[in-house]
Amino acid sequence: MMVKKKSEDTSCKDPAPQKKQTLVADSSKVTTSAQASPTCQKELMSPKCKVAIITGGATGIGFSTACHLLKNCARHVIITGIDSGEGESAVEQLEERYGDNKVTFVCGDVKNPAHFEGLFEMACEAFGGTDILFNNAGILQDKSWGNEVDVNVKGVIIGTLLAFKYMGKDKGGKGGLVINNASIAGLHPLPGAPVYCITKHAVIGATLNFGHKFHYQTTGVRVCAICPGSTSTDVTENVCENQLTPEWGKEAERQIFLKPAQSPDVVGKAVMYILRQARSGTIWVVHNNILKFVEIPNRHKISTFVKEFTAC
Ligand SMILES: NC(=O)c1ccc[n+]([C@@H]2O[C@H](COP(=O)([O-])OP(=O)(O)OC[C@H]3O[C@@H](n4cnc5c(N)ncnc54)[C@H](O)[C@@H]3O)[C@@H](O)[C@H]2O)c1
Repeated sequence: MMVKKKSEDTSCKDPAPQKKQTLVADSSKVTTSAQASPTCQKELMSPKCKVAIITGGATGIGFSTACHLLKNCARHVIITGIDSGEGESAVEQLEERYGDNKVTFVCGDVKNPAHFEGLFEMACEAFGGTDILFNNAGILQDKSWGNEVDVNVKGVIIGTLLAFKYMGKDKGGKGGLVINNASIAGLHPLPGAPVYCITKHAVIGATLNFGHKFHYQTTGVRVCAICPGSTSTDVTENVCENQLTPEWGKEAERQIFLKPAQSPDVVGKAVMYILRQARSGTIWVVHNNILKFVEIPNRHKISTFVKEFTAC
């Protein structure tokens, strides 16, 4: 199962030069009242010397996030995925940029609880525990929607429950951070790929529930979500062919590619912002190189009284 395992080395190197894209934080939506603020004034966590698990970390957004963690002196990143060729190549690239002994690839499926638990066990044995879980693995394939639901939703639930078990202060852990990779499709309809959209709405639900203060106060594990807009990665490859009908596929493709895709590097940067600043249970959109906080309205604010209705 394990392709490459490396021991600790805390040296940090600058990344290979990348195409520059600036991430603009849009504070217009950020509430100013201290109580309701989605961010904390003091830094909640630094990536320095942290141990992270990134599911689906060999490619795309997961890979970019691994780069940002290592660039910011993370101690070790365990990346996972279902393709060992991609995993080996990712380890090679990351070692070339950031030095040896900083990354391990483990081949496995997020739907498999034993595989997932093995990652936390490995982090415990080799590094004394995990600080960060990025629940990032996901697919956009309504054509095989049962598997899509399992990967995109079950994977996030399995990962978060294990994070509570291994990182929770109530279980002898140090607390930490779970970031769920949802999508802007978790916040509005994507009718051409409805099941994908439903799974991403579920990831928002998972974040609001697992990230609630009821859990945070017990576990010390923050749970936040990032919702990327269209990003240039493999997930949207063959998007048309992978949906339930050709017409639905065309509609999904049209909506996804309405605007030019942002670079995964921008999403990696946004993940670093969330890691440092975001309070538990908060949801963040990164779209067109802009980061925004999503205010989830209280249900009383969005419901209208129907006076004609009588219950009996
Ligand atoms: N690219 C976008 O436009 C976009 C927009 C919003 C959200 N997202 C989300 O970002 C996440 C990452 O996708 P990406 O865009 O980087 O594309 P990607 O295809 O490069 O990354 C997905 C990764 O998940 C891995 N994976 C797939 N099935 C898996 C499984 N069963 N177990 C473990 N790993 C598995 C793949 O091997 C791959 O490395 C996904 O959850 C996706 O839904 C992407």
